[in-house]
Amino acid sequence: MKILGIESSCDETACSVVEDGKTVLSNIVASQIDEHRLYGGVVPEIASRRHAENITWVTKAALEEANCTMEDIDAVAVTYAPGLIGALLVGVSFAKGLAMSANKPLVPVHHIAGHIAANYISHPELKPPYLCLVVSGGHSHIVEVLDYSRYHVIGRTRDDAAGECFDKVARTLGFEYPGGKFIDNAAKSGDPNAYKLPHPKVQGSEYDFSFSGLKTAVINLVHNAAQKGETVNVNDMAASFQNTISDILVDKAMLAAKDLGYITIGLAGGVSANSGVREKLQKACDKRGYKLYMPEFKYCGDNGAMIALQADEQMKALTALQRCRWIGFRNNLMDKPVRKIIRLENYDYSKNGLYFITICTVHKNELLWATDVGDGA
Ligand code: KG4
Ligand code: ZN
Repeated sequence: MKILGIESSCDETACSVVEDGKTVLSNIVASQIDEHRLYGGVVPEIASRRHAENITWVTKAALEEANCTMEDIDAVAVTYAPGLIGALLVGVSFAKGLAMSANKPLVPVHHIAGHIAANYISHPELKPPYLCLVVSGGHSHIVEVLDYSRYHVIGRTRDDAAGECFDKVARTLGFEYPGGKFIDNAAKSGDPNAYKLPHPKVQGSEYDFSFSGLKTAVINLVHNAAQKGETVNVNDMAASFQNTISDILVDKAMLAAKDLGYITIGLAGGVSANSGVREKLQKACDKRGYKLYMPEFKYCGDNGAMIALQADEQMKALTALQRCRWIGFRNNLMDKPVRKIIRLENYDYSKNGLYFITICTVHKNELLWATDVGDGA
C-alpha cells in the first residue's frame, strides 16, 4: 500500500510517499522559515499563502521522486489538526480535492500522532504500548501510546511548550527564529552549571510541565546583567538552559514511566532533535534498563512521511471496514469523546458554517474516528 502524506500545519509544506508503512519513497519539505524569521516568528497569513503557492509543486515533486502517479497511490493522508487554521485548511482542502478527483480514500491524521509515528520509520520493531515524550514548538505531552491510534495524554504543559521556550530563550540570547537549534549548538561550548535556573513545579499534577518560569528566569538574568552594564556568557547560558529543560523533561518522563510501569520509551516532536534532551533521556533510560526510541534527525521536524506512516496504521486498522463521510462537532482524537454527530444530509451549512467539517469513519453505526479542521488541542 502506497500512501501520499501531506503536512501543512505550520510553516513547512511537506509531502511524502510511503510504501507499506516502512519504505519512504520520497520526502519533500518546503520550509518558509527564511521569510518568517524576518518577523521573529510564524506569521499565519503568510504561512497560509505560501502553503497555497507551494502545495502543488511539493506534491508533484513527491510523486515524481517516488516514481509514482496518483494511479499508484492507495490513499491520501493529511494533517487535520492541531495547527494554524489557515495553514491546515490549505492542506486539507488540497488533499480532499486530490483524493476525491483520484477516487482514493482520505485519511485524516492528528499532527501529534504523526510525530509519534515518525519513530516507526527507523524503528519498525517499536510497537505499542509504550510511553512517549512529545516535545514540539506547540506541545509538550507525556503520552501513553496504547495502540497505533489510541492515546492517553497523562501530562501536558500548563503554559509554554518546550520548543516555544527554546525559541524565546534563543531570542533573548540574540539568536534568530526558530532558535532551538542555535541553543543546541551554543550549548556545546558552554558550561551547563554556570547559571542556576529554576525547576518549576506544577501544583496538583506531577506529570504536567510549566516552562514560563524558566524562560522568565533567563530573561531576567540577561536584562539584569544588561542594566549593570554586564553581559551574560551566551554559550554558558545556552548550556545551563538546555541542561535545565532537559532535566525537567527527562525527570517527568522517568517518573511517569516508573509509576505506570513502562519500560519502552519514545521521544517525538521538533525538540527531539536536541542533543541535550537525547543524551539525557538515553542515559536515564540506560540506567533503568528501559529501551528508548528516537526519530532520525530528518524526521524530528514536520514532514509528510510521518503523516503517511501514521495513516498506514490507521488504514490497516480499518481494513474491510466501511468508510463514509459524516459531519460532526469538535472532538479530539487524543483522549476526548466525540460530542455530537450529525449526518451529512442534516447539516445546515448556512447556520453552522464550514468550520466544523469533520471527516468520520464509521463501522456498523459505530464511530471509529472523527476529525475536524482547526481543533487547537
Ligand atoms: O515539531 P516541530 O517541527 O513543529 C511543531 O509541531 O511545533 O517543532 C519545532 C520546534 C521549534 O520550537 C524549534 O526551535 C524546535 O522544534 N527545535 C529544536 C531543535 N530543532 C528544532 N529545539 C531544540 N534543539 C534543537 N536541535
Ligand atoms: Zn510538528
